[in-house]
Amino acid sequence: MSDTTATRGAPGDGGAADEHDLMERVVNLCKRRGFIFPSAEIYGGFRSTYDYGPLGVLMLRNVKDRWWRSMVQMRDDVVGIDAAILSSPKIWEASGHLANFTDPLVDCRNCHERWRADKIEGICPNCGSGDLTEPRAFNLMFKTYAGPVEEDATVAYLRPETAQGMFVNFLQVLQTTRKKPPFGIAQVGKSFRNEITPQNFVFRTREFEQMEMEYFVPPDEGQRWFEYWLGERMAWYLDLGIPADRLRLRHHDPDELSHYSAGTADVEFLFPWGWDELEGIANRTDYDLKAHAALSGEKLEYFDQASGERYVPYVIEPAAGATRTMMAFLIAAFDEDEVGGEKRALLRLDPRLAPYQVAVLPLSKNDTLVPVAREVLGLLQPLWSVDFDVTQSIGRRYRRQDEVGTPLCVTVDFESLEDRAVTVRERDTTEQVRVPIDGLVEELRGRLPA
Ligand code: GAP
Repeated sequence: MSDTTATRGAPGDGGAADEHDLMERVVNLCKRRGFIFPSAEIYGGFRSTYDYGPLGVLMLRNVKDRWWRSMVQMRDDVVGIDAAILSSPKIWEASGHLANFTDPLVDCRNCHERWRADKIEGICPNCGSGDLTEPRAFNLMFKTYAGPVEEDATVAYLRPETAQGMFVNFLQVLQTTRKKPPFGIAQVGKSFRNEITPQNFVFRTREFEQMEMEYFVPPDEGQRWFEYWLGERMAWYLDLGIPADRLRLRHHDPDELSHYSAGTADVEFLFPWGWDELEGIANRTDYDLKAHAALSGEKLEYFDQASGERYVPYVIEPAAGATRTMMAFLIAAFDEDEVGGEKRALLRLDPRLAPYQVAVLPLSKNDTLVPVAREVLGLLQPLWSVDFDVTQSIGRRYRRQDEVGTPLCVTVDFESLEDRAVTVRERDTTEQVRVPIDGLVEELRGRLPA
């Protein structure tokens, strides 16, 4: 049985008001259903920081796991690391972050708000005054002190990107894994930037998660591998359900390129406020390895024993944001339709990203139904992330699961006690089929991609 009518059209075709509305609905849903909460809300919130709730932590983990699976698990040329967040100033001196990782900052002399000079056009967006201070460079790294003494010798930084962890561990990974170029080192983890204007929910925050990979290649193969990773990364987003009309690749103009880059392209998503970056893919040349070699005195190069050749590899870097990407998946999945004449909100999330793949719902709290439902729960829990919900009417529980993107509901009713069968209901179509408990795992395996 299917009884649905779509009401939301193609993305971006609803005008600015619709898109603003979409953003508001997604933010509300995140808070109301336990995906993302403003941090320290009981104290009035804390400076654009966010906490991931019970559903958010499941979904964010799925985003990161999917990235790891495609970038590490399914390949034999990429290995992972998990480097320290607290890091030596030497790393950031070599990488150029101490000198260059800055934003131009201006203050409004009238209302005393602070802005990024490159994001406003000489007018304070708060009060409209043109009386702004001269721009000054503001370093985005969070500085702290390791140990009890606050002096220059104890300065440490919270890493502003995970990438440098791969460069400073290049030799150790090379020696311990015996990999040879082309090969990659991947990492997923938190990064910190003292952003002047954090904005748009979790799009730009001061604490966020990145998923980065540094792919080391012979210098003359740099361009080829750059193009290869552009294709791989676009395919990853499309495979997980970002619609093609909300995704594009934008090549940087030569005057936009970072000082180390021989080519950069951004994977962009059509956010409610317009196209914006999800991931940057760059040909970083041999800049980083050479910079760390110069400051550390270590030879960061590859020696090919077969050919007797010694060289500093070029690096291709696909650098994505996990938290930002999760937000894009939520925006792309949000939808509204009608079921049996009633409006419903749903997340059409790919089952691999949904917080729960299955919800087990006993028709009522009846003492004879709950034990059978718990038996079904026990069958499914080792295989998938499963919710168990006994409160409210079955119709309302279906809506609750639709709203958080659960692709399949399994309902245990009074007939189940007689025929040892359950009803499987599909989120997108609301279609229902009756399945014997004995064959349930197999049925769900067929419907849920690995
Ligand atoms: N190692 C290169 C690098 O860090 P980046 O473009 O600065 O490149 C990569 O960052 C990705 O990290 C971005 O495309 C974005 O998805 C994410 N990201 C960067 N700053 C962020 C912030 N303040 N909040 C959330 N995500 C951020």
